[in-house]
Amino acid sequence: MTTLSAMAVEVLGTPDPREKAALSRRHADAWRAAREVGTPLPVGHAAPPDRPARPDRPELKNPRDVPRRRPGSPEGRRALLHAVAHIELNAVDLHWDVIARFTDTPLPMGFYDDWVQAADDEAKHFGLMADCLEAAGSHYGALPAHAGMWRAAEDTAADLMARLAVVPMVLEARGLDVTPGMIEIFRRAKEDDAVAALEIISAEEVAHVAYGSKWFHFLCGRHDLDPKDVFHDLVRRHFHGPLKPPFDEARRAEAGLPPDFYWPLTENA
Ligand SMILES: [Fe+2]
Ligand SMILES: [Fe+2]
Repeated sequence: MTTLSAMAVEVLGTPDPREKAALSRRHADAWRAAREVGTPLPVGHAAPPDRPARPDRPELKNPRDVPRRRPGSPEGRRALLHAVAHIELNAVDLHWDVIARFTDTPLPMGFYDDWVQAADDEAKHFGLMADCLEAAGSHYGALPAHAGMWRAAEDTAADLMARLAVVPMVLEARGLDVTPGMIEIFRRAKEDDAVAALEIISAEEVAHVAYGSKWFHFLCGRHDLDPKDVFHDLVRRHFHGPLKPPFDEARRAEAGLPPDFYWPLTENA
């Protein structure tokens, strides 16, 4: 019988973006179906690759060398969708990686339910962005994209608590702050399909940050650690640079991130 870890490694090893996303959704369905009938798939053990398989395009560039385009122009909006598509594809891999990489740590089944759901959501989000790009006569891979998206995964590959602190609770939380402004850009341009797609993404991302906070607090409780202190310590050690306000405090609160977690990590604190 296949295991959840083997399914995760299969997604990570798939280079084609549409195929990776489709496989992510199929494996999520299989996991949920087995859970629903009370015969969960074993989590098992499988070694995830250091870096997930990716297509030849987009060309990955240092963030400094990715040309900036004004969001007021159609090209600027295409570039924005392309950047989001790249983030979503990376997120598919991040969630399957957290499933496969830490199987030596015993965790409740709910941990896997949550990250499988997140991996399914990201695959859907990638599809939404890729569809928007194609409807606009472009496609994912047409523009260069940021290299170094996998850095957070590499920096936290040996520490599950650090992974949860940096990926969902810092990086995905940043998404909660910036997506409303992005939606406004497309609303002003009357690009309704992009608005609808980004609204789905924006709403579903709250849960991913909440999963991070939930399991981070769970592990702190298991080890009798103070969550806020440990969060500050891990983010300072594993995330490069300060957190940047403005923060969407209301959406962060909804996701279980209190202000005293992130404010002390800003430049001026
Ligand atoms: Fe997403
Ligand atoms: Fe996410």
